Amino acid sequence: MGRDVIIACDFNSKEEVVSFLSKFQDEKPFVKIGMELFYAEGPEIVRTIKKMGHKIFLDLKLHDIPNTVKKSMAVLSNLDVDMCNVHAAGTKAMMSAAIEGLTRADGTRPLLIAVTQLTSTSEEVMQEELWIDKPIDKTVMHYAKNTMEAGLDGVVCSPLEAGKVHEVCGEKFLTITPGVRFADGDVGDQKRVTTPAKAKELGSDFIVVGRPITQADDPVAAYRRCVAEFVG
Ligand code: C5P
Repeated sequence: MGRDVIIACDFNSKEEVVSFLSKFQDEKPFVKIGMELFYAEGPEIVRTIKKMGHKIFLDLKLHDIPNTVKKSMAVLSNLDVDMCNVHAAGTKAMMSAAIEGLTRADGTRPLLIAVTQLTSTSEEVMQEELWIDKPIDKTVMHYAKNTMEAGLDGVVCSPLEAGKVHEVCGEKFLTITPGVRFADGDVGDQKRVTTPAKAKELGSDFIVVGRPITQADDPVAAYRRCVAEFVG
C-alpha cells in the first residue's frame, strides 16, 4: 500500500457518513471510522462502507489483556477492515497477540498500527499523574520501537515526528499522521499542523485529514487537492 490520504469520517450516524461518501463518484477514498460512529452504528457500518468500495481504517485503539485483544482482533479481521490499531501501552505481548488474532487462515491480515502517547497527554500529566518518569519525546520513540519489535506495521504520530520514527524503526515502518491543514485553511483545535505537501516532505506514509475535507464547501475538490499535494 503506497502513500495515501485517509479521510477521518467523524460523523455521528450512518446517514451522514453515507451521504458524505456518496459525493465521491470517480474515486473511493480510504476512510477512518472512529469509536463514535462504530459504537453508534455497530459493525454494520463497516460492511456498508466496504460495500461502497472504500478501504477502512477502524480506529478503535484496543488496550486490554492479550487474550481479549487477540479474540477481538479476529472479529475485526473478519469484518475485512484494511487497518486497525491498539495502544502501545498495552505491551509488546498484547501487540503480538493482536497480530495473531488479526492473521487470517490464508496468512493475510489488515495493517496494524499503534498509538504511542496520545497528543492530549502532556509531559507534565504523563510524569506526575501516570508516573512515567521520562521525557515525552523519548517515551514516544521507545513505544514506537516496542511497536516495531512486536511486529506491527507502524504508529500514529505527528508529521513532525515521522522522520525520527523512520530513523529509529526503519523506512518501511509506517507513519500515520493527523494534524494536517491546507496552508490557507482553518487550524481549528489542532496545535501543531503541517500542510499535505510538508507532511510528504517529512516522510509521512498516510495523512489522516478530517475537517479540511468533511467541512469543505466542495469536499471532493478538497480531497483532490490533498491527494495532489501529498501523493503528487
Ligand atoms: O478534523 P481533523 O483533521 O483535525 O481530524 C483529525 C483526525 O485524527 C480526528 O479523527 C482525530 O481524532 C484524529 N487524531 C488527531 N490527533 C491524534 C490522534 C488522532 O487529530 N494525535
